[in-house]
Amino acid sequence: MTYTRIIGTGSYLPERIMTNAELEALVDTSDTWIRERTGIAERRVVAENQTCSDMAIEAARAALDSAGVAAADIDLIVLGTCTPDRVFPSNACLVQRALGVQQGAPAFDVAAACSSFVFALDVTDRFLRTGGARRALVIGADTMTRLLNWRDRGTCVLFGDGAGAVVVEASDTPGILSTHLHADGTQEDLLNVPWGPGLGYERLDETSGKISMRGNEVFKVAVRTLGRIVDETLAANGLKKEDVDWLVPHQANVRIIQATARKLGLPMDRVVQTVQHHGNTSSASIPLALDAAVRDGRIKPGDLLLLEAFGGGFTWGSALVRF
Ligand code: ACO
Repeated sequence: MTYTRIIGTGSYLPERIMTNAELEALVDTSDTWIRERTGIAERRVVAENQTCSDMAIEAARAALDSAGVAAADIDLIVLGTCTPDRVFPSNACLVQRALGVQQGAPAFDVAAACSSFVFALDVTDRFLRTGGARRALVIGADTMTRLLNWRDRGTCVLFGDGAGAVVVEASDTPGILSTHLHADGTQEDLLNVPWGPGLGYERLDETSGKISMRGNEVFKVAVRTLGRIVDETLAANGLKKEDVDWLVPHQANVRIIQATARKLGLPMDRVVQTVQHHGNTSSASIPLALDAAVRDGRIKPGDLLLLEAFGGGFTWGSALVRF
C-alpha cells in the first residue's frame, strides 16, 4: 500500500505588519473589538510590488530546505489559492519556473477559497497513491488584502497575506490517512467576491472585486459544518476524539477554532492557533500553522493531526495525518 507522507514544511509572511490600531484610523473599529470577536492582533500585508506567487516561492523554498529535497526532485506542484497573480500562467507554473522544478512535471492551481490547501492536499494524495507522482510540493498562498475594501469594517479587519507549503513523498508507511472534501454552492450570497475576469472588465468597479460577507451568518455555518466534518473524519478511520494529538484548523477566527476544539473535547493547548499573528490568510492558514508548530517542536513525528478548513463556495474539508 502506498501512502503520502509529509516530509517537510515551510512558510512565509510578508514583512509589513499592520496592527489593529492602524485599522482604527481607517474604519470605525477598535483593537478591543477585533481581539474579542476574532482573536486577531495583527496581520501581514504584501509590498506593492509583491505577489501571491512571490510568497508561494519563499514558502516552497523553506519546505524543500526542511525536507532536504532538491527542487529538481519534485515531480508535481499543486497550489491552492483564490488570488493567483494572473489568469494564466497559474501560480503553480510560476513556482515551477522560479524554483527550477523539472520542466514537464504537472503544476496547477486549485481554487476552493479558504479550503484550497486541504483540496490541494487531497488531489496530491491521490496522485501519489496511484503512482502519478513520487514527490510533490503542496502550497497554500493568498494575498487576501488585495481583495479587501478598506472601508468595510466587517471584512477588512479579518484578513491578511501569507503562504505555507509542504513537501510530500510516496511511502510504505502511513502518512495521510484520509481526506474529506465537500462543497455547497447554494449559499454564495453569504460570502463571495462578486467580480472575476470572466465577467468582463466593464463590470469591475471599486467594490465588485472585493470580498462581500455576511459574517455572522458565515460564522454559524462554519461552526456547524466544521463540527460535522470532525465526526465524519474520525468515523471514517474508526478513531475516537482522544486519539487526535493536534487540531490544525483553518485560522479564520479564534471563536470558530475554540468551538471546533470543544466539539473534539480537545484542550486549547492541543490546538495550533496562529490567527492572532496574521489574521485569516485563506489557503495559507493551515500550512502556516502546521509549519509554526513543527518548527517550535510542538508537533512531533508520529503525532496524529486533524487538519480542517471552511471557506467561500461554500467549501470545506479535512485531512487526518500521521505526521
Ligand atoms: N469593529 C467594530 N464593530 C463591528 C465591526 C468591526 N470591525 N464589524 C462589525 N461590527 C459591529 C456590527 O456592525 C454589529 O453592530 P450592531 O450590533 O450595532 O449591528 C456588531 O459589531 C456585531 O456584529 P456581528 O456581525 O453580529 O458580530 P460577530 O460577533 O458575528 O463578529 C465577525 C463578526 C468577526 C465577522 C464574525 O461573524 C466572524 O468571524 N464570522 C466569520 C467570518 C469568517 O471567518 N469568514 C471567513 C470564513 S470562510 C473563509 O475563511 C473565507
